[in-house]
Amino acid sequence: MPAPRPWPYPRWIAHRGAGKLAPENTLAAFLLGASHGYRMFECDVKLSSDGVPFLLHDDTLTRTTNAGDTLDAKHGATAGDHTWSTLAQLDAGSWHSRAFAAEPLPTFEAVARYCLRNGFFLNIEIKPTPGLERHTGDVVAREAARLWQNAAVPPLLSSFDVTALEAAMQAQPELPRGLLLDALWPGWLKTALRLGCVAIICDHLLWDQSSMTQAKSAGFRTLSYTVNDKTTARRLLDLGLDGIITDRVDLFSPASL
Ligand code: G3P
Ligand code: MG
Repeated sequence: MPAPRPWPYPRWIAHRGAGKLAPENTLAAFLLGASHGYRMFECDVKLSSDGVPFLLHDDTLTRTTNAGDTLDAKHGATAGDHTWSTLAQLDAGSWHSRAFAAEPLPTFEAVARYCLRNGFFLNIEIKPTPGLERHTGDVVAREAARLWQNAAVPPLLSSFDVTALEAAMQAQPELPRGLLLDALWPGWLKTALRLGCVAIICDHLLWDQSSMTQAKSAGFRTLSYTVNDKTTARRLLDLGLDGIITDRVDLFSPASL
């Protein structure tokens, strides 16, 4: 096996900020994850219609904002159809609980600056609005390079979308990339090599001795999402996994594991 690539990141990564304990992909979630001792976070980033990168998981605003109550129906609820000035008005916290009422959608820049100020690490999942894969990968990579230009450790870019990762590689080849997999589709290893990835990030069900050996033999770091119980975490760590993305910031203490 080749010598493993340098890996400056913590083993434990808080999914969407703090999993399900706070409204996902908001600054409030990052603060809560940090209060549980987490120093690395995963978040989902896409573009507004005027090109501002911001945090949101779904293609639409329906599940995690009050857009259904406030936006003109004829514009639809597709997040990428709206300008940032419109998106910035939305309440992205009330859907979760009253304690987070009026929590806004954050820009990627606000989250980046929060992480940089606090010495936290970030895994930026590029989550393009369908049809904007190349553009989103390009813009997010350029923005990440600009924001982290003076940082000792760069953010880890990742995506399920090969086109988005390819655009990120072309825009900022020096930023580390991880290929996200929800299936071991034919050619996954070759694709990760072609994209110059440093890591493979799989659904935890996909990691076994065979997939782990294939990934490690090709020189990749290995990570998994979304690991929410101790039995699964133990199984993966015993296989030699390098990083665990979890919702359960209340169950796993990064300091003790
Ligand atoms: O980046 C890991 C994980 O977040 C991928 O799945 O759907 O939660 O974004 P999803
Ligand atoms: Mg994600």
